[in-house]
Amino acid sequence: MQIRLIAGNWKMNGTSDSLREITPVIEATMEFHSAVLICTPFTLIDRAITHVRGSRVTIGAQDCHPEAKGPHTGDVSAQMLAEIGATHVITGHSERRQHHRETNALVRDKATSALDAGLVPIVCVGETQRDRDAGKALDIVSGQVRESLPDVPQSGSVVVAYEPVWAIGTGRTPSLGDIAEMHAHIRRLLVEKFPGSRGGRQTPILYGGSVTANNAAEIFSAANVDGGLVGGASLRARDFLPICRILEQA
Ligand code: 13P
Repeated sequence: MQIRLIAGNWKMNGTSDSLREITPVIEATMEFHSAVLICTPFTLIDRAITHVRGSRVTIGAQDCHPEAKGPHTGDVSAQMLAEIGATHVITGHSERRQHHRETNALVRDKATSALDAGLVPIVCVGETQRDRDAGKALDIVSGQVRESLPDVPQSGSVVVAYEPVWAIGTGRTPSLGDIAEMHAHIRRLLVEKFPGSRGGRQTPILYGGSVTANNAAEIFSAANVDGGLVGGASLRARDFLPICRILEQA
């Protein structure tokens, strides 16, 4: 059966007090079949992991360095994240591609280091408004999928997140037809990259970009949408929990 995953990306938000937002999520998702993940800032990962122990909720990071250790001031490696009990790491989020000039090659190295450390990389792809207006959305995403994903023969431990850059934090989302078209396109690319029975066909593809409780049911009903990567609406349990429930029931 296809893995369904709802992931919160807190971005650069959250202090110790914010951990209390995870408590209702822990309580309400105990019997869930879907996986529930929260990617906190680095500063909260350790405490968040203690907080969720014994529950369905797991904790991930938002980035990692491609190397395991070394002279990289300010960076954190996948190995370090795995050692404290993180389960996933987001790689190639568009905010890092844009603000830190991350290339597909770097994203792939980061994702590979995550796999080597035993973490599941969530590799983000997505076109800008300009790409879409120019009719290049499918091509841009093709390049990102082909070049940012690690070369593993089996992809069971990789997740892809389609996040159109213009939909992030804007309240705008693509039409259901556009989401379905892009997810089907990504599925074809994944099957091509990871053939075999447990390959690209099984790789979860998340949708991200202004997901809320109001649009989640429609988005999660689209073919090849295996869950969501949620930014702003993951910060408070009262916003995030309804989205988790919608995925569980979808
Ligand atoms: P929003 O849900 O705030 O649009 O953010 C999406 C995102 O970037 C998740 O990684």
